[in-house]
Amino acid sequence: MDQIKVRGGIKLNGIIEVSGSKNASLPIIIASLLTERKVTVRKVPDLADVRTILELLTFFGSEIKLTSGVNGKVLEINNTNITINKAPYELVRKMRASVLVLGALLARYGKASVSLPGGCAIGTRPIDIHLNGLESLGASISLEDGYVNAEAKKGLIGSEINLPKVSVGATENLMMAATLAKGKTVLFNCAKEPEISELGKFLNTMGAKILGLGTDKITIYGVDELGETDFTVANDRIETGTYAIAAAITGGVIKLQGAQTNQLFSVFDILSKTGVSIVEDGDAIIVSREGDIIPFDIATQPYPGFPTDMQAQIMALLSLANGSSIITENIFENRFMHIPELVRMGANITQEGPTAIIKGVKKLKGAPVMATDLRASVSLVLAGLAAQGETVISRIYHLDRGYEDLVQKLTNCGADIDRITGF
Ligand code: EPZ
Repeated sequence: MDQIKVRGGIKLNGIIEVSGSKNASLPIIIASLLTERKVTVRKVPDLADVRTILELLTFFGSEIKLTSGVNGKVLEINNTNITINKAPYELVRKMRASVLVLGALLARYGKASVSLPGGCAIGTRPIDIHLNGLESLGASISLEDGYVNAEAKKGLIGSEINLPKVSVGATENLMMAATLAKGKTVLFNCAKEPEISELGKFLNTMGAKILGLGTDKITIYGVDELGETDFTVANDRIETGTYAIAAAITGGVIKLQGAQTNQLFSVFDILSKTGVSIVEDGDAIIVSREGDIIPFDIATQPYPGFPTDMQAQIMALLSLANGSSIITENIFENRFMHIPELVRMGANITQEGPTAIIKGVKKLKGAPVMATDLRASVSLVLAGLAAQGETVISRIYHLDRGYEDLVQKLTNCGADIDRITGF
């Protein structure tokens, strides 16, 4: 397994081009299953998670062509010859978002089987809201041998569905399924993450009729079929926020080209309260910090609140604040595994259930640490960039899932960082 070595203490200074959004690309690629016409998706990030979902579609019988364009990867998908509508455990367990194929396969073929994804490092991550919603659309669902088997012999029927909990994946799964259902579907208490609006916009370019995107009530008028499209994915808001913190934690200046500013109000609001300067410059932002890092209390919330996917990263920043901060994780039940690793680097953080108390320290010290999940692993990179001495991060396959060219992007800003292969 590869490792990353970071020698910290350098103020980063340079330009980073933000990549396409991972969490928009994954459901959009899956939504291509809803049509047999040609689908082109541009600015797809080159990530392990994207490769996994493309592996799954290829397993189903999709023809995939991935080329390099001037503005990132160009993906062409042809789902004319899908022969399998069963997603196997060995692929689904690699990436939970695979469960999103259930709604698309069910809508197109009236039948689908997907392995139960199992839990992951950050929580049990059940899919009950997905399954109950599909039943409301007329599917019959059975669980056997670790697989979810869904069937809708007469096709899906539009329905009114009140989601009991705000869920990004369930909103996406049900929105996809409803595009080909007979009649009207209304989803209440939807998640409002920008990736859902991206998916809805993508589906509408294929001829779907989806209204209310960006609100907690989404209405979908079913159509008979969806057509071809050529769509460019928006940039990644979590990557934008992550590199903004790289500038803040090192006290440097980074220009983020293609920053998803309009989707990061809560993150930028809190960063500015911790003493970070964020200046807009066309479609870029320039992030810097001169004075102390000011402590601040944060609670993660569904969009537009502070995103759980930025929690580990801001904890690394606040571990160097001139006082104490409290972070409450309200979305996932076990998303604090970066705490013991940050403590190994000299951070003073204690956990009480869903709450972390971060007492700022003057310095972090480099140490060997272990990545446990995607965002935890990048928080260790951020801490390593600011720490005195060398930090060695192992199990960085977690990083490869969500950060395209991370070592190169940070090297371009002057970081002393290397990827060591073959451990
Ligand atoms: C999406 O996961 C993102 N993944 C996650 O990003 C993100 O952290 C999460 O939304 C919250 O914003 C992708 O978009 C691929 P949820 P998802 O359904 O859809 C519970 C990253 O780092 N729940 O909104 O799985 C669930 O356990 C990843 O890029 C149920 O109880 O999240 C959680 O506590 C990590 N039953 C809460 O809802 C269900 O049927 C929110 O989960 C579904 C969810």
